[in-house]
Amino acid sequence: MAIPEEIINEIKYRNDIETVMAPYISLKRRGKNLVGLCPFHNEKTPSFTVYPENGSFYCFGCGVGGDVFSFVRQIENLDYIEAIKLLAERSGIALPQDGYDDSMQRLKNTIFEINRETARFYHTYLMSPEGKWALDYLTGRGLSIATIKHFGLGAAPDGWDNLIKHLKGLGYSIPDMIQANVIGKSQRGTYYDRFRKRVMFPIINIRGKVIGFSGRAMPGEDKAGGKYVNTSDTPVYKKSENLFAMNFAKNHCDERVILVEGNMDVISLHQAGFENAVAALGTSFTDEQAKLLSRYTKEIVLIMDSDAAGQKAARRAGEILGNTGLDVRVVLLPDGKDPDEYIKKHGAARFKALLDGAVSEIEYKLLTAVEGIDTGSDDGKLQYLTRAAQIIAESNDVMTRDLYIGRLSDKYGVSRTALETKVKDIQKKNLKQREKRVFDEIVRPKFDRSDINPERRLYPAGSIAEETVIAILLQHPDFLEAATERLKPENMLTSLNRRIYKAVCECIEGGRTPDLSYFGEMLSPAEMGYLASLFNSEKGDKNALIVLKDSIKVILDEGLNKKTGDTKNMSVDDWAENLQRIIESKQKGK
Ligand code: UTP
Ligand code: MN
Repeated sequence: MAIPEEIINEIKYRNDIETVMAPYISLKRRGKNLVGLCPFHNEKTPSFTVYPENGSFYCFGCGVGGDVFSFVRQIENLDYIEAIKLLAERSGIALPQDGYDDSMQRLKNTIFEINRETARFYHTYLMSPEGKWALDYLTGRGLSIATIKHFGLGAAPDGWDNLIKHLKGLGYSIPDMIQANVIGKSQRGTYYDRFRKRVMFPIINIRGKVIGFSGRAMPGEDKAGGKYVNTSDTPVYKKSENLFAMNFAKNHCDERVILVEGNMDVISLHQAGFENAVAALGTSFTDEQAKLLSRYTKEIVLIMDSDAAGQKAARRAGEILGNTGLDVRVVLLPDGKDPDEYIKKHGAARFKALLDGAVSEIEYKLLTAVEGIDTGSDDGKLQYLTRAAQIIAESNDVMTRDLYIGRLSDKYGVSRTALETKVKDIQKKNLKQREKRVFDEIVRPKFDRSDINPERRLYPAGSIAEETVIAILLQHPDFLEAATERLKPENMLTSLNRRIYKAVCECIEGGRTPDLSYFGEMLSPAEMGYLASLFNSEKGDKNALIVLKDSIKVILDEGLNKKTGDTKNMSVDDWAENLQRIIESKQKGK
């Protein structure tokens, strides 16, 4: 059900797009617009553009776009109504309580409740005499009762339906328990507890809600289901977007975050006073997690296990984090230990020293690049120096480069100038590649409008003309009559543009100035991005009326072509031939 337009306008008016975006992105003014690094895809050159004039945004790199609601919806991972509600709340506007379709929000709330009750059930069981096996295990690993309570740790009893019975008793339905992913359905059609005889770690989001679980098997009993069983993605949980213990760490990480591999490592670190530790949730580190961290902190210290897998993970995390502008340092843990074991063996003070001595990302790379190379030989030396020059060339800071060039030339007995020249050459090459990438990212959009409008390839000229008509009409509502006189919605060739054109016409006929928010409910986020690009395109800048009329002609002509042969039912060959004909007729027309 729709929220009244006046309310939408009021909310929009009170939530200026620049202010809403400020906590998530840093924007710089460019002319009358603002630009910044897109928070929805990884990029090094800004292609995310905000148009304060009309309250919209568009990314030339990935095609996201829309109004302030689209932004909040996507960055906070909400649905349309939730985004409106959030902004309404923030600006103190009361929305009528019922009448809206909030079934998704209701489901989410139910899942949150089920999760909370499940966490409570496991915790109570852990602390009860029956849970002694689990409590002994946790205390045996050095956790205090206070820590266990702080993290709300629990234990899942051995058995197939303990949790099901408990949740049923509280009045929750089987389908809701399935949605929360705390129970599963067998092939025989029976239901079972997903976590059995495991130590349970609740996963809590930054707003303090239980969103999922990670369950560890007892030592020697991890054959069935693996060492850890984790919640799969649910309506309230996406593991690639959350970090274990971020709910605590967010209050302790102004300076830095410690990123480790395991939940147990995080818990030991917090117990030892390092409350800025977090872990990725059973995945390799993702872009979304990097983005989340970059909102809270300036620096990441990566502590990975010193085995090969850990080093690989460190490199990968380093790459992802490198794109966020965060400072990254790496701690190499000696003798194959994980942070949990290290702290237990050597204590918090030694660990702190290790943190303080964390090497910079570049130093770490230089240290590990030596692997597999015999630097005793001349060949080996050269090979290493070439790799090292590549690593140094990645740094944007002239002093950093100078420092390492100096160190390496001393250490390996090559002249400073030689190494400098090598680094400069590589930088030049990289710059060329970067320029090419900028071109690919900004000038030639990477994403393909055909993904959003699949019929686009059937009408190569017509669909572009349709986009022009829509763009011009959005920017010049006074041309409505000039457009509708000749072009009725049913004349539009592609169904997406037909739908949008119809809505734009209705909007203007109703006496309103078209505004992206008007389309928020009828368009998907991807379609919103598409419309935002049209809304802000330069198509309507010059000779708009003439361009409008020409574009209408192109659409109508291609519509006539369509009648002579319906392209939808054409074979690929016929379609290609038809396309060739259209191109030729266009060329002749010139
Ligand atoms: P580890 O095997 O290093 O576990 O996996 P750990 O946290 O150090 O646990 P202990 O010390 O052996 O008790 C690191 C992380 O990888 C994920 C978990 O999130 C774990 O914390 N993992 C590991 C899984 O999701 N599934 C697995 O089967 C194993
Ligand atoms: Mn461990």
